[in-house]
Amino acid sequence: MSDRRTRTAWALVPIVALIVAACAGAATPSPGGTPSGTAAGTPAGTQAAGTCAAGTTQIEVQSWWTTGGESTGLQKLFDKFNADNPTLCAYNAAIAGGAGTVAQGVVKTRVLSGNPPDSFQVHMGHELLDTYVNISGGSVLAPLDSTIIDPSKFPPGVVKIISGSDGKVYTVPENIHRANVLWYSKKVFADNNLQPPTTWDEFKTVADALKAKGIAALALGDKDIWPYGMVFETILISELGPDGFNGLWTGATKWDDPKVTAALTELQTVFGYVNSDHKSLTWDQANQLVIDGKAAMTIMGDWANGDYVAKKFTNYGWAAAPGNAGLYQALADSFPLPNKAPHPDAVKKLLAFMASAEAQDIFNPWKGSIPARIDAGNPPADAQQYNDYQKSALAEWKTDTVLPSMEHGAAASPAFKTAIETALTAFQTSGDVAGTVAALAAAAADAGL
Ligand code: BGC
Repeated sequence: MSDRRTRTAWALVPIVALIVAACAGAATPSPGGTPSGTAAGTPAGTQAAGTCAAGTTQIEVQSWWTTGGESTGLQKLFDKFNADNPTLCAYNAAIAGGAGTVAQGVVKTRVLSGNPPDSFQVHMGHELLDTYVNISGGSVLAPLDSTIIDPSKFPPGVVKIISGSDGKVYTVPENIHRANVLWYSKKVFADNNLQPPTTWDEFKTVADALKAKGIAALALGDKDIWPYGMVFETILISELGPDGFNGLWTGATKWDDPKVTAALTELQTVFGYVNSDHKSLTWDQANQLVIDGKAAMTIMGDWANGDYVAKKFTNYGWAAAPGNAGLYQALADSFPLPNKAPHPDAVKKLLAFMASAEAQDIFNPWKGSIPARIDAGNPPADAQQYNDYQKSALAEWKTDTVLPSMEHGAAASPAFKTAIETALTAFQTSGDVAGTVAALAAAAADAGL
């Protein structure tokens, strides 16, 4: 069987668009509220160094990992690194807000103004390259040499979108997440004698049956718009197919294509089956509705799997989102070295560890994702193991066609993503398909497509 991880599927991510967007500038979400736990002396919005012992070199790693599986995975990784390096102390300076809605703006301001954390969470692809690497004035991140990361241990398609236009690698990918997954409550489906849908037509049949019983078919937590955007992406994939979907990010598929219109119409229909309090919930609160049997399904990245692991919930099933079988819509969380990192030697040590199979197999079983390294996937027997979902993901990553995620930094420049989200936010209330198509086409034009 061929191993897709050794192929260059992600080469589809448009390099032309990367370059164009580098000049267009990235959106800067407002820093918003400061999470509780902020200590005097730490930069606004971050948490304190916590349990770091006095006298250790404290390595501030900024992330948006605050929920169970997310923060646990990173902490386990840091625990091992800190135990092996007693003079160093890596800690998670987390800023709440799923998908980095708050953290990304804070870290961008800090890095570009010369006051960066030692390292930070950033998605590979456009988010990394357009914001920090291929920018006028030169990269604000340091290239990573072979003492930190061995690119031959990562899929070529991944290496391509963690490399700058100079061909050098700029970040350490810690995982591969899958975005286009349908998660469901086995209990709700069994109790109602239903099967999980494989197409959007089947989805409507199932959703009508559930609606008749007063059960929300699809849990949505779009307090921030991105989970709604993820549902839209899965519908675009099912309408356009992999080539058509990829073309949206290269200009090969026009946003006024009739299939985009069909996708918006479908989105509007699907939106009719979500929980009524969706606008007040976060992604993990929506996932809780599935855990509690109050909703049947949710479409979310496989950090939802990490949420189930953390909450010890096992009565769930998963499938590709309707119309997405055989297609692995992917993204990766990664960690770079800012040029002005306060503790560069300590960060280099940490990143070299994070690039190892050992570290990736400590982190990912908790995170819900699979390791980015080709040779990882085998934690020691006494450690947390990959669960059944992750075993299936490890297998499908090798055989499925890989597509990039727009909402999580891989497919589109931050500015283009923000414009799409603005159009989708308006669409939720207006329901104006033609007007939204026009707004999306204008956003693509602004992005140089
Ligand atoms: C990140 C995940 C994270 C999720 C929810 C995504 O953008 O890649 O690591 O779990 O957002 O916050």
